[in-house]
Amino acid sequence: MRTFEQSTTLKRLPEQFFAKLVKKAQYMKDQGHDVINLGQGNPDLPTPSHIVEALQHASEDPINHKYAPFQGHSYLKEAVAEFYKKEYDVTIDPDKEIAILFGAKAGLVELSQCLLNPGDLALLPDPGYPDYLSGIALADAETAFMPLLEKNNFLPDYSSISSNVLEKAKLMFLNYPNNPTAATATKDFFDETVALAKEYNYCVVHDFAYGAIGLDGEKPQSFLQSEGAKDIGVEIYTLSKTYNMAGWRVAFAVGNPSVIESINLIQDHLYVSLFGAIQHAAAAALTGEQTAVQQLVDTYVVRRDAFVTTLHKIGWDVTAPKGTFFAWLPVPDGYASEEFADMLLEKAHVVVAPGNGFGEKGEGYVRVGLLDSEERLVEAAKRIGELDIFTK
Ligand SMILES: Cc1ncc(COP(=O)(O)O)c(C=O)c1O
Repeated sequence: MRTFEQSTTLKRLPEQFFAKLVKKAQYMKDQGHDVINLGQGNPDLPTPSHIVEALQHASEDPINHKYAPFQGHSYLKEAVAEFYKKEYDVTIDPDKEIAILFGAKAGLVELSQCLLNPGDLALLPDPGYPDYLSGIALADAETAFMPLLEKNNFLPDYSSISSNVLEKAKLMFLNYPNNPTAATATKDFFDETVALAKEYNYCVVHDFAYGAIGLDGEKPQSFLQSEGAKDIGVEIYTLSKTYNMAGWRVAFAVGNPSVIESINLIQDHLYVSLFGAIQHAAAAALTGEQTAVQQLVDTYVVRRDAFVTTLHKIGWDVTAPKGTFFAWLPVPDGYASEEFADMLLEKAHVVVAPGNGFGEKGEGYVRVGLLDSEERLVEAAKRIGELDIFTK
């Protein structure tokens, strides 16, 4: 069989760090162990039934068996605008300021290809969601990392970025509530972000994947709530986490019209729009009853409290996460992140994601997803306690 060589563009793509983790976990399962997998970010609960029913009905309508309009149905964009008005009091023009995406991941990767030329510079959070790097690699652009440190509440310290770097930057990625650190952002921070981007003339992409998941009664701030945000950036919102729709692949970008136009342009060449019935169900999710979202957040709070309380009991000094469904836990002295994660898998049969997979500054942490039942999370914490690593 002949092997065809990959293009230089493909060869630039970074290694999928977490593929290794999935393999290791599968190996332990194949050995017959009862593995508790807290290493991934795949919501475990089902999509609310009214959304599933909307899909069922819409899938029977022959109009949805045809190609959908290239840039998505206008009723979905109107639903997005209604959602942003209701949730954040932000006014969006459905025609010019919204692009429908095949999941946030696709949009985040496309954005670098839309806005960066080879050699251009993008500012990225470290630690951060790995797919930002994929888009930058495809665009053959360069990266400068902004460390997210505990002492700064995991927000980048803009005063530590040199003016040379800021002048060269074309794009900045941010994500709050944050994966992997579970930190949240304040309006002051976003105001500062807008002011700096205006001064240095780069585009800000705020990944709002966990926009609905504030755990202490505080509603996470939308970037677009800061005055002038639309002048310099876009926000990416996915239905994956808010409505447990990760498998449905539906998200949208909102904000700066020139960036939205670029996203629509690249997508016109890559795809026709999403299956119409999915667009219909997404509109039903955004404009319908939101009680299921509050119930979901309440579930994560119960899980978080049970898990963190048990970790404290076993002597692991951790801070309770404020947003997302992740916990970002410091590894005990004497361990590297990967070594610690491997040890938990081998000895406790608990999968956690090693922090270094999210960037250099993720070293010293592991990320736990609160994506199993309260009982299983407590069981995982107890199994870790039995290893007697922590002093009680
Ligand atoms: C920070 C962040 N952005 C984007 C995504 C991808 O979302 P989607 O399912 O819409 O592709 C995820 C999913 O894990 C995420 O954690």
